[in-house]
Amino acid sequence: MMDQADRLRQIIDSLKLKQAAAQANLLNTVRKKTSKVITVTSGKGGVGKTNVTVNLAIALSELGLRVVILDADFGLANIDVLFGIIPKYTLVDVIYNRKNILEVLADGPKNIKFVSGGSGVEELVKLERNQLERFVDNIALLDKISDIIIIDTGAGLSDNVMSFVMAADEVLLVTTPEPTSITDAYALIKMVAHRDKDKTIRLIVNKAENAIEANDILNKLSMVADKFLDLKLNSLGYILQDDHVTKAVKMQQPLALSFPKSQAYRNVRDLSRTLANMHEDTTEKNNTGIKSFVGRLVKFLNT
Ligand SMILES: Nc1ncnc2c1ncn2[C@@H]1O[C@H](COP(=O)(O)OP(=O)(O)OP(=O)(O)O)[C@@H](O)[C@H]1O
Ligand SMILES: [Mg+2]
Repeated sequence: MMDQADRLRQIIDSLKLKQAAAQANLLNTVRKKTSKVITVTSGKGGVGKTNVTVNLAIALSELGLRVVILDADFGLANIDVLFGIIPKYTLVDVIYNRKNILEVLADGPKNIKFVSGGSGVEELVKLERNQLERFVDNIALLDKISDIIIIDTGAGLSDNVMSFVMAADEVLLVTTPEPTSITDAYALIKMVAHRDKDKTIRLIVNKAENAIEANDILNKLSMVADKFLDLKLNSLGYILQDDHVTKAVKMQQPLALSFPKSQAYRNVRDLSRTLANMHEDTTEKNNTGIKSFVGRLVKFLNT
C-alpha cells in the first residue's frame, strides 16, 4: 500500500521530471539551429592546414563544441592519414544515395566526427536538380549534430578551393613566415576581396619562430589588406614551429593526443578559445548551416 509520504514523493519526482524536460527543451531552442561552416585554406601548399584542422577540431571539442571535419582535399585523403583511420565510405556514397550522411561519418578522437569528400565535388556539379535536393536534405542532418563544421581544403587558388572559401561562413587562412607563403596568402585574400569584401577571413601564422615574428606578419598582412583591398582581416593568432608536430604526423596520431603539452598544441588551444568566444558572439547570420553552404557551393562551382 502506498502511504501518503510515498504518494507525495511520487508527485515531486514527476514534477522534477517535467522540470528537467522543460529545461532540456529550452536548451534545444536556445542552441543554435544551424552549424557554422569554416573552410581552412592557404595560398601555398604544405603550410600546416591539415594539422591545424585536426588539432583545432580536437581543441574545440575539448571546449564542449560539437565538431565535424570534412576532408575536401580530394584525391589526397589527408585527414585519414593523420588520424590513422580509413573510413569505409565517402561523401560520394551520400551523393549517390547509397548511404545517409550519418552512416558515412567516421568517429575521430575526442568525439569529433569526420567524413572524406572523395571525388564529391566533381559529382556534385553533375547532379540533376532533384538529386541535388535530396543530397542537400540528407547532409542537412549535420546541422543537428554539430556546432562547427571544419572543411580542410587543398592549397591554393584553384576554382574548386575558391568555391569552398566563398561559400563558407568563415575562412581560416594559414600561412607560414616564408615570404612565398605570405605572398600567396595575400593573392588569396585579393581574390576573396574582389568577390566579397565582407568575408570573414581569420589569419593564422604557423611555424613561427617566435611571437614577435608572428605578430609582425599578422599586423602587416592586416594593414595591406585594409589599405589596398579594403578588407578587414581578423588575426586569429599563431602556432610556433615545433618538432612535435612532425613527430606526431609520423606516428599518425594527432598532436593533441600524442603531445598535448607541446608548445604547438598549447598555441592551438589558445586559437580554439579565441575562436570559441567568437562563435558564442556570432549571430545566426554567421552560422548559416551546411544546407545553405552546399547551395552556395554548387552555385560557385557552376560559375
Ligand atoms: N607548427 C609546426 N611546427 C613544425 N612543423 C610543422 C608545423 N605545422 C606543420 N608542420 C609540418 O608541415 C607538414 C605539412 O603539414 P600539413 O600536412 O598540415 O600541411 P597542409 O597545408 O595541409 O599541406 P597540403 O597543402 O599538402 O594539404 C607536417 O607534416 C609537419 O611536418
Ligand atoms: Mg593538407
